[in-house]
Amino acid sequence: MSQATPFDLTRPRRQAHVDPASIPLDEIDVSDLELWTTDTHWKYFERLRNEDPVHYCADGAFGPYWSVTKFDDIVYVEKNPEIFASEPGISIVTPPPDAVTQGAGFITMDGPRHDAHRKVVQPVSSPRNLKHLEPLVRERVINILDGLPVGEVFNWVDRVSIELTTGMLATMFDFPWEDRRKLTYWSDMATASPPHLEAMGKTQDDRKAALLDCLDVFTKLWNQRKGTTRDSLDFVTALANADATRDIDPKTYLGTLILLIVGGNDTTRNSISGGVIALNEHPAEYDKLRDDPGLIPKMVDEIIRWQTPLAHMRRTATRDTELGGKQIKKGDKIVMWYVSANRDETAIDRANEFIIDRNDSKHHLSFGWGVHFCMGSRVAEMQLRVLWEEIIERYRLVEVVGDPVRVPSCFVKGIQQLPVRVHSW
Ligand code: HEM
Repeated sequence: MSQATPFDLTRPRRQAHVDPASIPLDEIDVSDLELWTTDTHWKYFERLRNEDPVHYCADGAFGPYWSVTKFDDIVYVEKNPEIFASEPGISIVTPPPDAVTQGAGFITMDGPRHDAHRKVVQPVSSPRNLKHLEPLVRERVINILDGLPVGEVFNWVDRVSIELTTGMLATMFDFPWEDRRKLTYWSDMATASPPHLEAMGKTQDDRKAALLDCLDVFTKLWNQRKGTTRDSLDFVTALANADATRDIDPKTYLGTLILLIVGGNDTTRNSISGGVIALNEHPAEYDKLRDDPGLIPKMVDEIIRWQTPLAHMRRTATRDTELGGKQIKKGDKIVMWYVSANRDETAIDRANEFIIDRNDSKHHLSFGWGVHFCMGSRVAEMQLRVLWEEIIERYRLVEVVGDPVRVPSCFVKGIQQLPVRVHSW
């Protein structure tokens, strides 16, 4: 949701393939991207939760920062936004001063301005509107699933995860259907870390160009929809006509677009892919699902907890304060690692096990907490529920047949490629 700046990520680091217990505590840097591409961050977080739950890293890959790794400490931070602010940014990467967006929309705002902007777009993801959208989502899911090449190996991320979430996003923006993959591209360009950008063969200039193209396309839609009312709800019409937002400057508009595009895209996409991996890694849970598809709503919650599609959110201390017995200074960067809190055994029963029929399945931090609690949680849950209802109708098994390729990011906990084969009943 914020743009990456060029940091020196090429310096040799040594964390990914060593035993975390062998590293002096003050040298642990959980933002090291190698820990994320190799999925080896778990033991580091376990050590921090046990030995140093509020941990200072002076020499992080993205500069100095505090890690908050336990459930209750994160809830405390979220409950005190006047001490832990969302301005100037909510990712560990501080946006550069020449960024083409002004923050990332209302997720990087505090106080009444945040509340007013959120209120404008919230009706699009309201239960009432979702009820109206569900038949359309189901129709699209069926089209996607019926088009899969049974018995052949294909990339689940592209054929299913991206296709479904991008379609949903296009609907919520009322974006031209044939151009919907542009939303995926802009989302990827907005969130890519420097190494990810490089891996895509793109530069910072390409990123800037992509975001300006996004603004240009959406400015045209804004102008067409300003002063109009429409039968269906969409983000652009809402923003162009509400008192709180009709006069926003282009940079704030672009920030809001990026928030809504990334919020609605990468996160749900990675829950869809992550769920397939989790079920393959836990065949007894897959059996439970086949025996009782009525478990799907609870399973969806568990998949979202297990995957934790956004590994962290960041806050900035507005004054000197204390957190978990540590002295925090005004201006310090506080990173709330949801990915760690979701495995905190002191807050979640059997937190390190994937259990699709948990009683308290909604007790997780994947959607955050408090005033910034995810605005699209119900959208995501509905898409995942409908998807799994239709998968289980058609396919006995979505079989993972190779290693997933993970996104080099400690913010979006994502999967770029997932080779699978689907098996009919
Ligand atoms: C599984 C899917 C999703 C996950 C895990 C997720 C996660 C999150 C998290 C962690 C936050 C920040 C919460 C905090 O700071 O306390 C957030 C905020 C937000 N999400 Fe989501 N999200 C998902 C899906 C969506 C969807 C589908 C949309 C779009 C409709 C969306 C739109 C937003 C928006 C607009 C915010 C900002 C809320 C605010 O600042 O008031 N998210 N999300």
